[in-house]
Amino acid sequence: MSRLSVNVDHVATVRQARLGIEPDPVMAAMLAETAGADGITVHLREDRRHIQDRDLQILRKVIKTRLNLEMAATGEMVDTALEVKPDMVTLVPEKRQELTTEGGLDVKNNFDSLKYVVSRLMDAGISVNLFVDPSPDAVKTCHRIGSGGIEIHTGRYAEAQNVSTRASEFKRVHDAAILSKRLGLKTHAGHGLDYRNIRELAAMKEFEEFAIGFSIIARSLYTGIHEAVREMKRLIEEARIAAPER
Ligand code: PXP
Repeated sequence: MSRLSVNVDHVATVRQARLGIEPDPVMAAMLAETAGADGITVHLREDRRHIQDRDLQILRKVIKTRLNLEMAATGEMVDTALEVKPDMVTLVPEKRQELTTEGGLDVKNNFDSLKYVVSRLMDAGISVNLFVDPSPDAVKTCHRIGSGGIEIHTGRYAEAQNVSTRASEFKRVHDAAILSKRLGLKTHAGHGLDYRNIRELAAMKEFEEFAIGFSIIARSLYTGIHEAVREMKRLIEEARIAAPER
């Protein structure tokens, strides 16, 4: 059954709007865990626009599942990861002006630097995923870099405005996941996943984990975090049970 890692960045976004102490992403993470989340994801951005160093340090101490740190492959972030020791690092590209992570890593043009960062993190016992667009070339390059796993960027699939684009974007994600598994990579997915579009992906046995933030935190405003996480977990589990064997 695929795992659900709940991204709590958006709780920190609300807190930072007033630069106060509430709402606390640490509290949100703990509630998500009690509702059945299999992991917690945070993105420590270079500009610290939402998650702060303090959040990461406390999360490392209090969460009981798996902590996934999304970060840029910079020297400062690698030092932080080596100090905090999350269970997993997901390397993502980062631009200061973007609203959220806009595309996957350019693994081809950053091959050597990514390989160096991946090996430093893996040598410290941290598992590493590379966040990439669903392209066969990117998946094969990740395999050569030796990351051990990938997170497939599902943003274009999630944002598709019509049926045919959605079908073609789904096929790209689907084919990339199958290739990734065939190469022996841990295969995760994330970005823009919500209560509607998760079913199609969750039906695929290739996906070991989904990282989902915005839709869960948005829904939690109405239902509370517990209910929002439980409902996403239920959809993921039911989609797999209902999926025909391939
Ligand atoms: N995975 C990665 C690598 C991301 O950068 C993000 C956004 O921070 C997510 C997953 C979660 O995306 P969303 O908030 O749209 O669910």
